[in-house]
Amino acid sequence: KNPRVAVVGATGAVGREMLKVLEQRNFPASEVVPFSSIRSAGTKVPYKDDELIVRELKEDSFEGFDIALFSAGGSTSEKFAPLAVKAGCVVIDNSNAWRMDPKVPLVVPEVNPDDLDWHPGIIANPNCSTIQLVVALKPIHDEAKIKRIVVSTYQAVSGTGQKAINELETQVTRLFNGKEIVSDVYPHQIAFNCLPQIDIFLENGYTKEEMKMVNETKKIMGDDSIKLTATTVRVPVFYCHSESVNIETVEKLTVRDCRNILASAPGVTVIDYPEKGQYPMAIDCAGEDDVFVGRIREDETIENGINMWVVSDNIRKGAALNTVQIAETLIARNLVRVA
Ligand code: A2P
Repeated sequence: KNPRVAVVGATGAVGREMLKVLEQRNFPASEVVPFSSIRSAGTKVPYKDDELIVRELKEDSFEGFDIALFSAGGSTSEKFAPLAVKAGCVVIDNSNAWRMDPKVPLVVPEVNPDDLDWHPGIIANPNCSTIQLVVALKPIHDEAKIKRIVVSTYQAVSGTGQKAINELETQVTRLFNGKEIVSDVYPHQIAFNCLPQIDIFLENGYTKEEMKMVNETKKIMGDDSIKLTATTVRVPVFYCHSESVNIETVEKLTVRDCRNILASAPGVTVIDYPEKGQYPMAIDCAGEDDVFVGRIREDETIENGINMWVVSDNIRKGAALNTVQIAETLIARNLVRVA
C-alpha cells in the first residue's frame, strides 16, 4: 500500500514546491493532504490536475498518515513533529528544530543515505546553503580528503519564505517609481543591496546561518575534522543560492581531476567553459534539480587548493526536492515505519 502524505506548511514557498516535486516525480502516495495555520485553512493549492483544499494543522491531524513533510518553521516543527511520530508518521523536517539533535539524522541522499537507518521517526533536512555545498564537496572529500573550507554565499530571498519574495518585488517596483519603501522582513533594504547578515548574530560574531554551515557540514559528512569558515550574504536574487568555495585538500587535485570527479558525481552538473564565458548562474539554475559547479581553478597561494563556484535552486535541492528524495530513499529501503 502506498503511503499517505501530509504536507505541513503547504501554502509557503517551500510547501508549494514540495507539492510540485511530488507531482513531477510521480511520488507513490495514496493521498497527499496540505496543511497550514488557521490563516490559510480553506484556501486551495494546485496539485496534479486538481486543487487541494488546505486544512488547519491541529494536534490530531496526523492520524492515518505515514509520512509528514514539514516546512512551517521551527516552532511548528518542535510542537507538531513529536505528535506526528506518536501517530505513526515518519517526519521529514525542513526547519532548524532537530538538525543538530544527535538522535536525529541530518540527510542529503547523495551524501549520507545510510544515516537513515537509525532514524527515530524524525529526519532533518539540512539548511539550503549546506545541502548544495556538501553535494559538491563529498565526492572531492572521498577522493582527496578536505582539510579546510572557506565559503562565501550569495543567497536568494526565497530562502526566507514567501513574504521575503514579496518584499524584494515590492521594494524594486516602488524604488523604480520614486516611492518610499519599508523593510519588514529584513533589517535593511534588500533591493539593489547585499546584506552580510542572515539570521541572528551569535556571541562569536558569526551569524546563526554561518554556524549552521559549520556544524551541519561536519554532521552530514560524518567528519568532525573538516574545518569550515563561512560568510553568508543575502542578495537581491529571487531563486538560487550561489557560493564561492575555497578548499584545501590532503591529496593534490588538478582542475582536470576536479572536473572529472564532479562530472560523474550524483546530482552534480559541471558547467565550466571559461573560454566561452560559460559558468553556472542563478537565472539559469532556477527550477533545476542539480547542483551546478563551474569556475574550477587551482588556488595558487597554497599547495593543494581549489576554488569553485557552486549554484543550486535553494527551494528545490535546498529544500523541497531534498525532502522528497529523503522520502523516496526511505521507501526504497523500507524505513517508513518508525523503528
Ligand atoms: P499560513 O499560510 O497559514 O501562514 P513561508 O516559509 O513561505 O512563510 O511559509 C510558511 C508556511 O508555514 C505556510 O504554509 C504557513 O501557513 C505555515 N505555518 C506557519 N505557522 C504555522 C502553524 N503554527 N501551524 C501550521 N502551519 C503554519
